[in-house]
Amino acid sequence: MAINTLEEKMVHGLGDIYDAEHQFLEMMQEALPQANSDTVKMLLQQHITETEQQISTLEDVFDLLGQKAERVKCQGASGIVSENQKTMKEVSKNPVLVDIAIAGGSSKVEHYEIASYRSLITGAQQMGQNQIAQLLQQNLQQEEQTAQKIEQSTPTLFQKAMSQARSA
Ligand SMILES: [Fe+2]
Repeated sequence: MAINTLEEKMVHGLGDIYDAEHQFLEMMQEALPQANSDTVKMLLQQHITETEQQISTLEDVFDLLGQKAERVKCQGASGIVSENQKTMKEVSKNPVLVDIAIAGGSSKVEHYEIASYRSLITGAQQMGQNQIAQLLQQNLQQEEQTAQKIEQSTPTLFQKAMSQARSA
């Protein structure tokens, strides 16, 4: 479908991240039972709850625009999800590597979301849609905090994998 106006572009971008959030929610729900480290499990659980809220925040944004919340197939998210599924299969025999793969995949997810929200927020601000910009800002902040927590937890996972390899 052709996109001819900034408003249509914004609705398309919202549909895209709306779909991405759903895809990433499923990815986290699938990863949760495979996680081994308490930190990774906790991060996943917390971000699953946050993502459910983010989806409903996006529905509020669609409401403000007088639009129906509709998912637009997000190829970027599909790529990250399928790459992650493949990696998870490949590392499945080693619990520490599974955790590292979850952290790595989640980090890619968060940064994809951060880029998407930042660009949507800039557009909303420029178009004078301040209430929408504020709602999207809430989602962005959670994504930024999640990315930071994942990155902080990753060195410990590597140390675990290395000490395991040394004692093997
Ligand atoms: Fe996220």
